[in-house]
Amino acid sequence: MKLNMNDLIIKKRDGGKLTKEEIRAFVSGYTQGEIPDYQASALLMAIFFRHMDDEETLALTEAMKNSGDTVDLSTIKGIKVDKHSTGGVGDKLTLIVGPLAASCGVPIAKMSGRGLGFTGGTVDKLESIPGFNTTLEPEDFYRQVNEIGIALIGQSGHIAPADKKIYALRDVTGTVENLSLIASSIMSKKLAAGSDAILLDVKCGEGAFMETEEDAAALAEIMCRIGTGAGKRTVAMVTDMNQPLGYAVGNALEVIEAIETLKGRGPADIENLSLTLAGMMIYLGGKAGTPGEGRMIAEHALRSGVALAKLRTLIARQGGNPDVIDDYDLFGTAKKAVEVRSEYTGYVQLIEAREIGRASQSTGAGRAEKDDPIDFNAGILLARKVGDRVRKGDLLATCYSADAAKAKAAAKAVDDAILIGKEKPAEQVLIKRTIGA
Ligand code: URA
Repeated sequence: MKLNMNDLIIKKRDGGKLTKEEIRAFVSGYTQGEIPDYQASALLMAIFFRHMDDEETLALTEAMKNSGDTVDLSTIKGIKVDKHSTGGVGDKLTLIVGPLAASCGVPIAKMSGRGLGFTGGTVDKLESIPGFNTTLEPEDFYRQVNEIGIALIGQSGHIAPADKKIYALRDVTGTVENLSLIASSIMSKKLAAGSDAILLDVKCGEGAFMETEEDAAALAEIMCRIGTGAGKRTVAMVTDMNQPLGYAVGNALEVIEAIETLKGRGPADIENLSLTLAGMMIYLGGKAGTPGEGRMIAEHALRSGVALAKLRTLIARQGGNPDVIDDYDLFGTAKKAVEVRSEYTGYVQLIEAREIGRASQSTGAGRAEKDDPIDFNAGILLARKVGDRVRKGDLLATCYSADAAKAKAAAKAVDDAILIGKEKPAEQVLIKRTIGA
């Protein structure tokens, strides 16, 4: 259709509803460079203030999904279940729930992203395992899932290119924080990735995109409606991101914590969330009658060591050195370590996740620019969680980097991000709600 962008902007500015055809024409025109940034920005701002309803949001999702490759997983046997986190600090859950669900018979054919800003990415974590290859040809990807039940790779550049372009424009025009725009951005990529069912881990809190539980729940609801509208079973869990997950933030540090969790020695919050998410994936994959039964099956896979064995097989199959599971020295070590010790006696009130994520990024564990190299051994290892009792002089965290000045600066930032007070704070609820089960 021939699109008059000026009319379209005015229609949305005045609160009108865009048709499917108009949305499609906008997405394809903008992706192909036929619509200038200034008109696309004006339309995004009109959407930001006037919102889109479910039909418009679904149409935008479909149009962005269809702007690039869609993955066909039909040659993989079974119900393929994908999992997506909206982004957090210390979130190494894919490395745990992937092997857990796969060891219980759910095929995992997952494409993941790299770190973004203060949040980490699964692909960077996997690449901290010596030799691990995150790029597989499609046929090898499908064959691997059929043979060992799991493959974890990086997202191809050709998944939803329209989202890539529109997201970059939103990032610089003050139009990121709109539920329809966020939901369609995430779901266009998830639907293109081809799984049969989707589990969304929607983070909320100080270290997440959505700070309040209500906003996170609203985002979760929209994404579930989009997924279901596209014919995929979709469930979302709203989970806490007010403090980092577990203790480790930084690539190799997080892989080690994930391995420890699969050995049954992980932090309580990580183990609890992993079992719940894996249980839901086992249920969505048709291997359990209820999510609760799925959790019990996942717990058995954890305790019996079969999930750890699955991780070992995965690492070896994708070219990594599986001996890292028994010998963490094979990851290498950061050259400098600077400790943060408590100046007070009391209880840990707050560990600001966003600031810990930024501090970790500044040690070299994350990138400042898109193509910056990563220091896989850099990062932050917390020694305490919110609610823990500490005495003056106790260790709060250790900051690792190849660069002494960076480790020292990160230690200062981590010190500022941990608040100690006299009263024991209220217990934190990790899993706040489940939507769409
Ligand atoms: N993540 C995405 O992929 N898109 C958004 O709009 C926000 C977070």
